[in-house]
Amino acid sequence: MKILLVEDEEDLREALIRILQLKQNVEIHGVDSGNAAIAKLKAGESYQLIISDYNMPNGSGGDLLKYLAESKSSIPFILCSSMELSEIPEAGIYPILGSVLKPDVFRPLVALIEKLRPIGDSSDNKLSSQFFRVSLEVIAKIHTVCCPLFIQLSESKFIKVFNTGDEFSKEEETRFRNTKKLDSLYVRVDDCEIFVNALAKSTIQIQSFTDKLNNPKSIQRLADLIDDPVLKNDLSDIAMMLRVTEINAPNNILTAESLKPFYRKALAHVEKLGFTPEVMALVTANVNLALSVVMGTDSLKESLKNLFNQKGGHESHSVDIAYLACSIASVMPWKSDAARHKLALAAFLHDIELAGDSAQEVDLMHPSVNLTAKEKRRIREHPEKVVAKLKSQNCNFAYNIEQILLQHHERPDGTGYPRKLMGSAIDPLASVFIVAHDLVQYIESNSGHHSLPDFLKLKEEEYKVGHFHKIVVAMQSLGM
Ligand SMILES: [Fe+2]
Ligand SMILES: [Fe+2]
Repeated sequence: MKILLVEDEEDLREALIRILQLKQNVEIHGVDSGNAAIAKLKAGESYQLIISDYNMPNGSGGDLLKYLAESKSSIPFILCSSMELSEIPEAGIYPILGSVLKPDVFRPLVALIEKLRPIGDSSDNKLSSQFFRVSLEVIAKIHTVCCPLFIQLSESKFIKVFNTGDEFSKEEETRFRNTKKLDSLYVRVDDCEIFVNALAKSTIQIQSFTDKLNNPKSIQRLADLIDDPVLKNDLSDIAMMLRVTEINAPNNILTAESLKPFYRKALAHVEKLGFTPEVMALVTANVNLALSVVMGTDSLKESLKNLFNQKGGHESHSVDIAYLACSIASVMPWKSDAARHKLALAAFLHDIELAGDSAQEVDLMHPSVNLTAKEKRRIREHPEKVVAKLKSQNCNFAYNIEQILLQHHERPDGTGYPRKLMGSAIDPLASVFIVAHDLVQYIESNSGHHSLPDFLKLKEEEYKVGHFHKIVVAMQSLGM
């Protein structure tokens, strides 16, 4: 039986080829993209089965499905991806034998291959050894050892050097290479399922999830993949809350989908500032949850739609602040899911009273445009008006959210508005929000050439007081 395996992650592709050939007595050819697979088929190569990933540069699994449909092929197709069949636009155009969701790929793949095996073709493998070889580089990629690892002493003698749960870092890899002159270790064939699944898990890119984090199922799937127990818990909580808001607001008009370009831009800022992919994914889930809450409340939905319909980049402003405030909150010692949720909600609500013709958010102390007395008053009053509006509509948000909305134009040195609060009189979460607001304005005015150290240097004097100092310390820990 001849199989074509289409997988862009080289380590996973090579491991699957080696282990399936060994265990299943099949012939497997591997390629790294949809286009490479199409080229093989066009060249007349024949296969009894295609196993393909979906997201790949240079031709996706979807492109391959399109080609198979157009060329009226009849080769059975198995999707092996971190995306479910229902998430794939091309799913209906070609018959799909089965869909295998990463990372637990090994057993379902073996079962599907067995289903297709022609009568008379034996799966009796040509197993000559109880061990298979794995390069040190691949082991380091998995990082936490997933099954016992051995070194080979002679033809038939192996000794165990690592146990399940041990760390195998890049340094360990170098040590084995330099002192033991080894470039690979051995895994028992019996452990190949654990090994292949761990490898599949290590190749799943957290970033690939960030597009889909408005869906409780994707959030839960990501939570299952993350090892950090705090992040895992937070993501599970968000998935649960999002399930509830989905029930309350099934038809969001302004959805994360329509804000996607702004999400992408905000994510690029967050990445450039040095936040980890895990934080980026968690924050995306938080931002989506906050948006669902706003869109699930009729009066707020109207206000937000009005604001976003104005010229002046309010969508980008709100989404950027939501992302940056939540990211900063994720590196504070008191980080919590609740804190991120409040900051993201406030980001969508803080300027809703600026919706209207000439309203702009400007620094009243140093206005860059000439404002009429009426405009000045309107700007000065918008923080208090937002809170009053929420109260008049019986939106009883937590006390901190009110403080963020009320204080978002206060300054550490007391020159802000409306109350001229200073230093630690400004609420801790409001302080994070103000820093995020400053950071967004700094990024916008330095179009693409921003760096966190430059921003912190610029604000060094001003941020020496109150909670601002602790925020600076936490941001410096990002190590840039
Ligand atoms: Fe504002
Ligand atoms: Fe604002």
